[in-house]
Amino acid sequence: MLVDRPVLKVGVLGAGTVGSQVVRLLLERAEDFAARSGARLHVTGVAVRDLEAPRDPAVPRELLTTDSTAVATGNDLVIELIGGIEPARTLILAAFRAGASVITGNKALIAAHGPELYAAAAQAQVDFYYEAAVAGAIPVVYALRESMAGDRVTSVLGVVNGTTNFILDEMSTKGLSFDAALATAQQLGYAEADPTADVEGLDAAAKCAIIASLAFHTRVGLDDVAVEGITDVTADDIREAHASGCEIKLLAIAQRRDDELAQGVSVRVHPALVPKDHPLASVRGAFNAVLVEAEAAGRLMFYGQGAGGAPTASAVLSDVVAAAAHRVNGGQAPRESSYAALPVLGLQDALTRYQVQLRVVDAPGALAAVAQVFASNQVSIDSVRQSSYVGGQDAVVTIVTHVAPVRALDAAVRDLEQEERVESVVSVRRVEGL
Ligand code: NDP
Ligand code: HSE
Repeated sequence: MLVDRPVLKVGVLGAGTVGSQVVRLLLERAEDFAARSGARLHVTGVAVRDLEAPRDPAVPRELLTTDSTAVATGNDLVIELIGGIEPARTLILAAFRAGASVITGNKALIAAHGPELYAAAAQAQVDFYYEAAVAGAIPVVYALRESMAGDRVTSVLGVVNGTTNFILDEMSTKGLSFDAALATAQQLGYAEADPTADVEGLDAAAKCAIIASLAFHTRVGLDDVAVEGITDVTADDIREAHASGCEIKLLAIAQRRDDELAQGVSVRVHPALVPKDHPLASVRGAFNAVLVEAEAAGRLMFYGQGAGGAPTASAVLSDVVAAAAHRVNGGQAPRESSYAALPVLGLQDALTRYQVQLRVVDAPGALAAVAQVFASNQVSIDSVRQSSYVGGQDAVVTIVTHVAPVRALDAAVRDLEQEERVESVVSVRRVEGL
């Protein structure tokens, strides 16, 4: 027993999926945490809404309380795992004022109020940690906030929502409809009873805002992220993607633009075609992966479990150990780094590729006319495939562009709709990772 170590009081707000696993591990691994942090971590209380609600028996009943304010203000370290904006925000601010370091996994709160929380932590000279807020067990916050501090990140591309990845994977591998795959995700406990935040892309958008803030040293909030979820993805879309050698993934994309046309950061979440040989295409089930590109380091890939009680608790506890060690040995968590203050660009300035399917008149000059439309909009074509004939008169042509601003790609699509040798624009899809 490491009885000579100083004692730090730890309060936990929330004992649901993640909080119960954090409490279990704090109690089961007390000796390890004392050795690693230099302090014995004494859990003084666990705040919940309902004392009688069924929960993991590893959480001792005598620790449960409904007095969340007392837990927030009566400890050295406070772990917030309630979720949502209020009362989490008020409790965290109260904890800072009371001199506690705070550890949270609350991406929605950070994406909405990150600067306020950072400022309150700095004012109180305590730590603010949130590894679990992005991609569960994967240490991507640490990587961006600390490991990449010596580099210049140019882009981050990630599968950061396990529920939607599970749904898309079920649709891809079993040919299920969106509704059937969502029902399976709910039965298996991946998706919540109200799956809106996941399937509409809002959970991924909050994570994307946090990623972009860290990667580009710029404040990026939830409202800065252009979001489209997966509710409109159909089984036909998945079949078409397979025919093009691709999977459909819900991607969080944070890009830095520094070219003659635009300077700033662009942040978006949407489904996109990803070639099957790209590392993100093989992220299966509820797993997450994040691909970081930086000028000096080149490409870095992070992969692992992005959700679930124990995996997320692993990330929370890494922060707990760091914050505890600072209490014992001195030192502080990194402060907010927003010095670059880059402009946040609109979706029209994002760089991507389109795959455009057209039904064209099968006659001399038709393809030349189509190529001319792209050229006149400054969009370069990467590949052209004439995939089938319809009724002997028309051809279906699939064109994949090179990277171009959304503004130019959309203008090209509008012009194609007006081109007389184009019978119809059948589909327009975004392609990433080529
Ligand atoms: P749960 O809904 O499973 O648990 C929430 C807990 O908070 C419950 O114990 C609930 O009490 C308690 N609670 C809710 N409101 C209050 C309140 N007003 N006062 C006191 N206690 C309250 O959430 P999760 O564990 O899934 O998520 C917690 C946080 O972790 C969220 O921010 C989430 O985004 C984040 N996270 C979750 C992941 C996951 O896989 N679940 C992954 C990564 C991050 P009671 O039990 O009595 O209802
Ligand atoms: N609901 C999220 C997901 C986990 O499915 O990835 C919490 O961030």
